[in-house]
Amino acid sequence: MLQNLKGMPDILPADTAQWQAMEETIRCIFSSYGFDEIRTPFLESTDLFSRSVGETTDIVEKEMYTFIDKNGESITLRPEGTASVVRAYNQHHLEHAYPLAKLYYMGPMFRHERPQKGRLRQFHQLGAEMLGSQHPLVDVEAIKLLFDIGQEFRVETPVLEINTVGDATCRPPYRETLQAFLRAQQSSLCETCQKRIDTNPMRVLDCKNPTCQGLLTAAPMMMDHVCEPCRVHFMEVQEGLTQIDVPFIINKKIVRGLDYYTKTAFEMKAGNLGSQNTVGGGGRYDDLVSAMGGAPRPAVGFAMGLERLLLSTKHLIATAPIRIDVIPLGKAAEFLSMKLSTELRASLRQKVGVSVNTLLGHSSPKSALKQSNKTESSYAILIGDQELAKQMASLKNLKTHLQKEVSFAEISATLLGELHGTSN
Ligand code: HAM
Repeated sequence: MLQNLKGMPDILPADTAQWQAMEETIRCIFSSYGFDEIRTPFLESTDLFSRSVGETTDIVEKEMYTFIDKNGESITLRPEGTASVVRAYNQHHLEHAYPLAKLYYMGPMFRHERPQKGRLRQFHQLGAEMLGSQHPLVDVEAIKLLFDIGQEFRVETPVLEINTVGDATCRPPYRETLQAFLRAQQSSLCETCQKRIDTNPMRVLDCKNPTCQGLLTAAPMMMDHVCEPCRVHFMEVQEGLTQIDVPFIINKKIVRGLDYYTKTAFEMKAGNLGSQNTVGGGGRYDDLVSAMGGAPRPAVGFAMGLERLLLSTKHLIATAPIRIDVIPLGKAAEFLSMKLSTELRASLRQKVGVSVNTLLGHSSPKSALKQSNKTESSYAILIGDQELAKQMASLKNLKTHLQKEVSFAEISATLLGELHGTSN
């Protein structure tokens, strides 16, 4: 039997209600912040990611699903959303439409990583990008939005960590200082860190290897080497977060796994996720829009992993759907049941989460009700020969087991009344 690819799981019907509820809540939060949705393609040119995420990052070096397509072009399944949003922003001149573009997206991303709890090869992200302002309070708004989503889903013991990663003025001299420090320790560092000294020294700070961590306690930190504008920016971000009561800690080691960040970087961690404990992360990327060919526009954003959000949320969020089963008992009632189902659907369409199902092929109430119980249906409408003769149906509440006879003409109204009582 054919199987799904490793790290690319199906989301089965038993779980989709929870996903839909999660997505709906996320959309509500985004719209309360004035964000508009943007949908970009899953496939983009490989260049887009190597130029934005960075040639020497793990994502570009090892994790991208890259193919040569039938035209001989190198294309890649998106490993993240920011690059595509920036491409679309530039391509469609969205800077003219919005002084500050507030864009969100939700959907699958692809990274060829080693699958484990909270780490997949096809995973889902929600992402938020705010393009067009360099104001530190826009960073504060982005961090608050991440915090609010965490709060809404009651993420288990959330910790918000922030840092500054400097900019084009202060990062190059800091990079040299850090490289000099790392070269002095080179032989004691792990193999990956040794390679990164030349290519991506800041990522060394992120290494999980305990020996490297020990050696790095004395490493120079970006935060202590930032230029005055970056320092002031970071102070204002902290002040803003304090003013609106968003609790945070400073973690000088946050460097993020993508190269486009400038100034503020932040992550939200959850207490119950083990080694893959970062639920969301992001930061400012003031140079990316111009690096991708657009007019200079400072920007800030973040993304959250939806699988990790679900794993870290303390309670189930989906409300159980209400199923109504229309059950013809025998051939004679089949057409009429189909008609009744159609009418009921039309009159109940406004009731989100209510479904009407015709259960065909049952000659006795026993077998039909067994099926209804299995699907945890709330109501059964049974139509046998006797009911047909009287133009009545038996309406059974499967939760209370109360049953009554209702004329065909009155079924919709009766059910609506019952549901109204239920929803109160
Ligand atoms: P990222 O830190 O690479 O940032 O990913 C954001 C989140 O996606 C992570 O915190 C994690 O929850 C989830 N995630 C990443 N990889 C996996 C995986 N293999 N399996 C499951 N979940 C995963 C970005 O992608 C940036 N584009 C964020 C950003 C937006 N920065 C500015 N704007």
